[in-house]
Amino acid sequence: MKIFDEIESEVQSYARSFPRVFNRAKGEFLYDEDGTEYLDFLAGAGTLNYGHNNDRLKKPLLEYIANDGISHGLDLHTKAKGEFLEAFDEKILRPRGLEYVMQFTGPTGTNSVEAAMKLARNITGRENIISFTNGFHGVSLGSLAATGNSHHRGAAGVSLNGSSRMPFDGYLGTEIDTTEYLDKVLSDSSSGIDTPAAVIVETVQGEGGINAASFDWLRNLDVICKKHGVLLIVDDIQAGCGRTGAFFSFEEVGIYPDIVTLSKSLSGYGLPFAVVLFKPEHDLWRPGEHNGTFRGNNLAFVTAKATIDEYWSDDKFAESVKEKGRYISQRLESIVSEYGEGNFTTRGRGMFQGINCISGEFAEKVTKKCFQQNLIIETSGCDDQVIKFLCPLTISNASLAKGLDIVEKAIKEVCQGEDEMPEENDYFEDLRLIS
Ligand SMILES: Cc1ncc(COP(=O)(O)O)c(C=O)c1O
Repeated sequence: MKIFDEIESEVQSYARSFPRVFNRAKGEFLYDEDGTEYLDFLAGAGTLNYGHNNDRLKKPLLEYIANDGISHGLDLHTKAKGEFLEAFDEKILRPRGLEYVMQFTGPTGTNSVEAAMKLARNITGRENIISFTNGFHGVSLGSLAATGNSHHRGAAGVSLNGSSRMPFDGYLGTEIDTTEYLDKVLSDSSSGIDTPAAVIVETVQGEGGINAASFDWLRNLDVICKKHGVLLIVDDIQAGCGRTGAFFSFEEVGIYPDIVTLSKSLSGYGLPFAVVLFKPEHDLWRPGEHNGTFRGNNLAFVTAKATIDEYWSDDKFAESVKEKGRYISQRLESIVSEYGEGNFTTRGRGMFQGINCISGEFAEKVTKKCFQQNLIIETSGCDDQVIKFLCPLTISNASLAKGLDIVEKAIKEVCQGEDEMPEENDYFEDLRLIS
């Protein structure tokens, strides 16, 4: 199919790693045009926590469409929105003792980050936002200013202002608690760091390389924010919606952030949807100040409500995620000790885990070998050196084991020098061969 070559921009990225034309998907599997099955350990970069075309979500969605339910309604009150809000309040917020109001933003993660940072600035009257090394918050300009990655920052074309970087947990080694440094600079009127409106943090950095902050570090961060009158924003866009084994990635830490962003798996069905949650006393918005045509995607309200009813009415699903997470940890630990020669480490929490390899080159060889075995798995981190395990949380035990077996075999082969890469065909050449 030459069309991708001719019309689609060079900006494509995942399509380069997995040069097939995909056509169908179910559960943890993707199928290409020829019907070849691929096990999906990328899952829409954390958007498909409940798998592809999950029947428990598809049924209410199809019924809603068949009944001519509202699909677009700006921010009008709709039945679908009301029912989602009720389910979220009753089954997510109240059982966790959280009192938040919800803002529907434009449907991408970065738009909810923009709204969260704007709100924090308006509440405090301050501009600076503290973000962390290796943090990723999206590629629109405000979020990009808080993002670490130079590849993405470099494309901005303007100076990225309004954010100061601090070292994330472990950035200066395991012995140093970097929150002490944060406390020091915020206490020192000559540190050169303007008192911030907010600190924005991912409890587990996804794009930055599956760096999981320790609970103690997060608790210290919370204390320091309170001490200095700084708002705490948790960007739970990738780590939230069950990925770490709880609905919110911070709930087991025991902190209560001022502001939370959610997107990716919130709709559960891959439908674009993003929200900001904040404590009621912070709701200083005036009508329409942060608006957007696609605020609140009604189809997503239907599937998001279904995820809550189907998976979050009790603890069973969270327990199963923890259980699978423990299995992934064991397997990764054993791969690292068997083949890593002391060079690899494991990282992450719940079903948000990775293997930190010695180099991006090594990790790429592994993921390419995996793709030859029909496993879709990606890398992240500053040098793309972390193999990132992001399979659907609903994956069967057999598929999970199979995917890990494929990765283990690929790592073994690359370690043994059986790392001949397939002919490095031009990406588009590959596509032509397939079509
Ligand atoms: C933690 C985090 N925040 C924000 C974003 C941006 O979301 P989007 O790509 O939907 O704009 C991402 C995307 O990967 C993310 O992982």
